[in-house]
Amino acid sequence: MKTCYFTASGNSLYVARKIGGELISIPQLMKQNDITLEDDAVGIVCPVYCGEMPMMVRDFLDKSTIRTDYFFFVYTYGMSETVAKAHAMLAVEHMGNKLDYVSTIKMVDNYLPGFEMKNQIETAGKKKIEEHLSEICKDISERKIKRVSVGPFKKAEIAIIRSAIGKSIMDRNTAKSYIVNDNCIRCGLCAKVCPANNITVKESVEFSDRCEVCYACVHSCPKNAIHLKSEKSAERFRNEHISVMDIVTANE
Ligand SMILES: Cc1cc2nc3c(=O)[nH]c(=O)nc-3n(C[C@H](O)[C@H](O)[C@H](O)COP(=O)(O)O)c2cc1C
Repeated sequence: MKTCYFTASGNSLYVARKIGGELISIPQLMKQNDITLEDDAVGIVCPVYCGEMPMMVRDFLDKSTIRTDYFFFVYTYGMSETVAKAHAMLAVEHMGNKLDYVSTIKMVDNYLPGFEMKNQIETAGKKKIEEHLSEICKDISERKIKRVSVGPFKKAEIAIIRSAIGKSIMDRNTAKSYIVNDNCIRCGLCAKVCPANNITVKESVEFSDRCEVCYACVHSCPKNAIHLKSEKSAERFRNEHISVMDIVTANE
């Protein structure tokens, strides 16, 4: 089994580890010209971004050839998954495959403009993460089939959410509006955790136009020097089971 993952603050990596198999980082795979994956089971674990998958995961699916008897997709999310499962069904169909299992797991929401991180972290216990995660792991190990149907109404809902919310937030130039304050010691960690190779650190921290809007740089900065104008609080988050070096290894 191969479990491909995308993570910014560790939730999806933690889930991928629990599901098991050979763990493969999607940002690492994206460095290859040709991506062909073959195994008895192949799956994706990634966060929900504005009711969809991260842009890089969509690009990864478009670019890859996946040969498997069992194709699974698990999203981590924080507040509302909206149409994410339908998106996964369509994206996998678009690459000429069929999704066998799609599920979601509610965890800490790392969307800084939406939530006070402290509150998110403190209330995570209510989400019964371990319980839900065990169910997903059992389903996948038993190769359970779980799909969602995507009819015209669902497609209309997808289009509405994308134009109402997604378009404005999922902008590859977002990083250009990040604020780097005087706490920055130019350690370069932000560049290492960036899955899109979008950051260079010389005299100052510079952002290019490939931002995935994942906030890995913002959440991982050891000096809490990177901020969003729209953030609800300065508190940051990383999944408690995942180290900053795990994020570096995944995304560098
Ligand atoms: C740009 C952005 C958009 C997000 N959109 C959603 C969303 O639509 N619904 C939701 O429930 N969570 C949303 N989230 C929260 C993440 O999906 C959630 O915290 C996820 O578990 C993070 O995974 P990671 O720790 O592996 O990076 C969003 C986060 C970011 C950064």
